[in-house]
Amino acid sequence: MSLPPARILGIETSCDETAAAIVSDGRVIESSVVASQVDLHAQYGGVFPELASREHVKAIHPIVQGALQGAHLNIEDIDGIAVTQGPGLAGSLVVGVNMAKGIALAAGKPLIGVNHLEGHIYSAWLYPANASPHQAPRFPLLALLVSGGHSELVLMTEHLTYQRLGGTLDDAAGEAFDKIARLLDLPYPGGPSIQKASAAGKETAFNFPRATLEGTWDFSFSGVKTAVLRTVEALRAEGRPLPIADLAASFQAAVADVLVVKTLLAANEHKVREIIVAGGVSANKRLREKILSESARPVHIPPLSLCTDNAAMIAGAGYYHYIQGDFSAFDIDVQPTWPLS
Ligand code: KG4
Ligand code: ZN
Repeated sequence: MSLPPARILGIETSCDETAAAIVSDGRVIESSVVASQVDLHAQYGGVFPELASREHVKAIHPIVQGALQGAHLNIEDIDGIAVTQGPGLAGSLVVGVNMAKGIALAAGKPLIGVNHLEGHIYSAWLYPANASPHQAPRFPLLALLVSGGHSELVLMTEHLTYQRLGGTLDDAAGEAFDKIARLLDLPYPGGPSIQKASAAGKETAFNFPRATLEGTWDFSFSGVKTAVLRTVEALRAEGRPLPIADLAASFQAAVADVLVVKTLLAANEHKVREIIVAGGVSANKRLREKILSESARPVHIPPLSLCTDNAAMIAGAGYYHYIQGDFSAFDIDVQPTWPLS
């Protein structure tokens, strides 16, 4: 079935990345610009919300201009304006939503509010304009969504329908990476730092717990976090130097193992055709390698640039709302805690 063509401008400002992108037909990335504030927040060891919104205010206009110029397009060439409405930091979301409203009103284009989490899922459909397309994900599918704020298993039987099977009962996977990195004095953001430190470590050095929470599709990372903390405290009390690489590798393996085991069990139970892994933590090498090697089903994991926050994924998801005529009113508010279903 061929879907109608449409070019969507996406805008993303939910956390510490100011991003704009143009995507055709829900799949083809014509341009994608991301301004990261990581260096700014690193000195605080995490995102400083007020600073984040002020940086978005400064960056948003040039970033949107950059996306249009990068695609050699004018606003008249765009069919709809998609923007992250939530979840995320309220003060940051407001900047993107107001920019999108302004452009949509001035240019007479429809406004499309997109859930950040559905955006992450739709990153699996995207490919750059100069590359050949991969096979689009096929339904029914299971999405493992692992980011700084969320760890969810979501079942999709068709576009834009989401059944949340389960999610984290405490920390999100990315949050656990960030907290353990801080404990080990590794720089923010913690995920990439833990991955880097792990390269020189042995993942069997410490046997950290893997909470499988049988009978549910939920996750819990508080046990593994506490186990790492207790180990670090004991080593420090003995005056021994911390084996950072071994601690990082053992922690990373414990988190990745639980995510993969539960995802593959849920995929079997719900008889899905394919699996998507998305969100910042899907950039993790250990997680990617394990699920790709152990899954009997096709697994879609976006390239690294599309795992972390970007606006192409928002434009991609926005396209499917656009073709259904699912437009937003101009008085929409931001939704800082907007669940996927
Ligand atoms: O999706 P994302 O960019 O922002 C949110 O929507 O939260 O995810 C950010 C999270 C952070 O917690 C970061 O530490 C984690 O993704 N992350 C990783 C890796 N790269 C980013 N976690 C593990 N391994 C990585 N390579
Ligand atoms: Zn995200």
